Amino acid sequence: MAKLIDGKAVSASVRAQVAQEVAAMKEKGVTPGLAVVIVGDDPASRTYVNNKKKACAETGIYSEEYALPASTTQEELLELVRTLNGKPDIHGILVQSPLPKGLDEEAVIEEINPQKDVDAFHLQNVGRIMIGNFHFLPCTPAGVIELIRSQGIEIAGKSCVVIGRSNIVGKPMAMLLLHNNGTVTICHSKTKNLAAICREADILVAAVGRPKFVTEDMVKPGAVVIDVGMDRDENGKLCGDVDFAHVEPKAGYITPVPGGVGPMTIAMLLRNTITAAKLQSGLKD
Ligand code: GUN
Repeated sequence: MAKLIDGKAVSASVRAQVAQEVAAMKEKGVTPGLAVVIVGDDPASRTYVNNKKKACAETGIYSEEYALPASTTQEELLELVRTLNGKPDIHGILVQSPLPKGLDEEAVIEEINPQKDVDAFHLQNVGRIMIGNFHFLPCTPAGVIELIRSQGIEIAGKSCVVIGRSNIVGKPMAMLLLHNNGTVTICHSKTKNLAAICREADILVAAVGRPKFVTEDMVKPGAVVIDVGMDRDENGKLCGDVDFAHVEPKAGYITPVPGGVGPMTIAMLLRNTITAAKLQSGLKD
């Protein structure tokens, strides 16, 4: 039986730390501020944005929402980002992804002041992560590292396998595990002998976006299994990239879906917003 890694509990403790830190910053005259931009009416994006605003309110972070119609032009969106770059009460800017068709997401991200890029998606921040000289870490991979650490699990020297190579999760996840001295393999749709490679993993991170993709035969007994997936099974029920029912008896640690990695992403966003506010106001840790 695996030990369940409770993302809600770990996230609650990070949020409590954030709330304390925000209160201390306010005493020094700085209120961290986050602007969340949502374009169009994607229901999943709406839920994510509402959760982000709620988390800000609960921890004392000032937030502003900019909800734009799907008909917004590239130039209008770039102009909004420029305005937010110039707002002194806004330290973090998050443009919710995906953007409606026709809008160039990469160009929008590049317009964000890198010091306000709390997603760490800007090329400058991606480069900083690559060389290990970063201000912000991307929220989901940072949340995964926090979950692993919360269990007292050592990453150094461990065999780590990441399934998935997206810019948002897979690639930065691999870099963060490497920074923590893991020995890292990235697997993807063209990988041969996937199951055999995964079976070597002491720490297995699934970020493929396919329901129940990781089966019991892909897991080493006692492995740490982290599920970044947010999928729907054949009955439309929320599930992850890991076949939880069959993998759980074999793993040493496992994250559930929901209640694993998901709650950590927002907690890390709050932390990045604090970092951004310190960076821009000159406040020290
Ligand atoms: N859409 C889904 N996850 C994210 C995220 O972490 N940041 C942004 N900006 N958009 C998202």
